[in-house]
Parts: sequence; structure tokens; C-alpha cells
Amino acid sequence: MGDEYKDTATLIPWAGRLTNSYIRHVQKSALKEIKSLLYDKEILEIGCGSGYWFDYFRRWGAEDVYGIDISGSILGLARTEKVAQASATNLPFGSRAFDVVITVTMLQHLPSKDDLRESLREIKRVLKKGEGRAFLLELSQPHSISLSSPLLSISKSEWGRLFRENGLLLESSHPVDPSVSMFILDQLVYRAAKLIGMGQGGDKGLGQASSSGSKLVSLYYFVKGALSIPSILLMGITRKLCPWLSAHWIYVLRAEVNGT
Ligand SMILES: C[S@@+](CC[C@H](N)C(=O)[O-])C[C@H]1O[C@@H](n2cnc3c(N)ncnc32)[C@H](O)[C@@H]1O
Repeated sequence: MGDEYKDTATLIPWAGRLTNSYIRHVQKSALKEIKSLLYDKEILEIGCGSGYWFDYFRRWGAEDVYGIDISGSILGLARTEKVAQASATNLPFGSRAFDVVITVTMLQHLPSKDDLRESLREIKRVLKKGEGRAFLLELSQPHSISLSSPLLSISKSEWGRLFRENGLLLESSHPVDPSVSMFILDQLVYRAAKLIGMGQGGDKGLGQASSSGSKLVSLYYFVKGALSIPSILLMGITRKLCPWLSAHWIYVLRAEVNGT
């Protein structure tokens, strides 16, 4: 992905901007629920992009924040020198270097599950044993589409299996964006994508796949933008009553003590 990553707002201006504000709002409110775990910690964000979260992590009490991203051009936007261009599959840090490792919608964009497994093993390697924690905010709803780039289709239970197989122990999981209307929209668009011959709607960057895919995704973001306001207003209730509708989850993990 890397330099090819484009955010929704660049591709569909107003609906994209509204959808992005919605996404940032729900991500921030979900991350805030675990912010006490960041206090006084050295943090690495993998796939940090422009460093959007750095100020929040510092404001929430982090001692130091580092970031890596595969894209040199997006890192150029980060307002700190504590960033490096590198891949999640080969982190340029020694073992047990960080108290906390964070990803925010990064692993879901890796090109294959093999890369994902390698990245999870790297996360385990750089985490301090015992007190070290990883917070991974990632898509966990296989029936999702992406405008900008391919997405890995991984259910919540498959994430659990991947963590176990790669030496990470799941301590807790937290819903990010459960919404009845967004859930129905995702299901409908996923099925429509299949119907018009887009095959695995959940695995493709539809906007890049074809012009009909691009029209479908424009409509998707248009409706999503419109639904974002009621979804935000009801988010507190839906997180409590129907967390399973959440497309994204935050996983809190620690490294298995045995092994490397
Ligand atoms: C959806 S963006 C999220 C950026 C940031 N976490 C945020 O919330 O603003 C995904 C980021 O992952 C980065 N990325 C993709 N593949 C990567 C890899 N193999 N190693 C490191 N970063 C990667 C992309 O360049 C992009 O900046």
C-alpha cells in the first residue's frame, strides 16, 4: 500500500470529509476508554501516517511517542523527528524496546495474511515482556468495503486465532463503532458489490477495481456520511447494547512470556 494510500476525503470531498470526521470521532472516543494504560509509557505507533494520534497520546500522559510508516511521503507530514520509514514486517528496533505498541487501522491494509502474521510476530518481539501491551484498533468485520485500498477480511474470532498463533495473549477487546444503520449499509453494499460481479467485495479496494465499483463506493460514502450523525449520537448506547455490530475493535494484548 504505502504511497498509494489515499484517504476518503481526497476521493469524495464532502461525504468523505463527513465520514472521516465520524471515523476519527469514534476512534478517539474508543481509544480514550483505555487511555489510562498509556500513562508514563514509551509508545510505538506502527503505520502512524502523518502522526495524527501523537498529540493525543502525549496529552493522555505518554512519556515518549515514536512512529514508523512504510510511506516516506506521509511521514513527511509528521511534526516530529521520532519517526522512521520502515515496514511493520521488519521493525527497526531491538527486542523488548516498548511499553506500548499501537496500530490504528494499519494491519487491515497489509497485502496478505502472511505479512500480517509477520507483523504480529514483530509486535510481540518489540514489546516489553510482562508489563508491555499492544493496542490494535483494526477492522474485524469481513463484510466491509474500501474505496482506497485492499482490505484484509478478518473476523473477530479469526483475529483471536491469529494473535494466539503468533504469541500474543488477548486481555480484552473493546467495540469502536457499533451502529445499526452502518451495519445494514455495510451488509447491503457488500452484497451489491458481489452482485455486480465485484467478487470478494470485502477484499478489494473497489474504487480502484472498476468504474462501477467506484460509483458504488461513491454512493456508499454518500449514505455513510449522512448516517454518521445519528450513529455518533447513539454510539454510547450501541456500545453497551449491541457491541457485536462494531466493524472495528480495539484488542489489548500482551506478549507471551515464553519464546523470543
Ligand atoms: C489508514 S492509514 C492509518 C494511519 C494512522 N494510523 C492514522 O490513524 O492516522 C494506514 C497507514 O498504514 C501504513 N502502512 C501500510 N502498510 C504498512 C506497512 N507494511 N508497514 C508500515 N506502515 C504501513 C500506510 O502508509 C498508512 O499511513
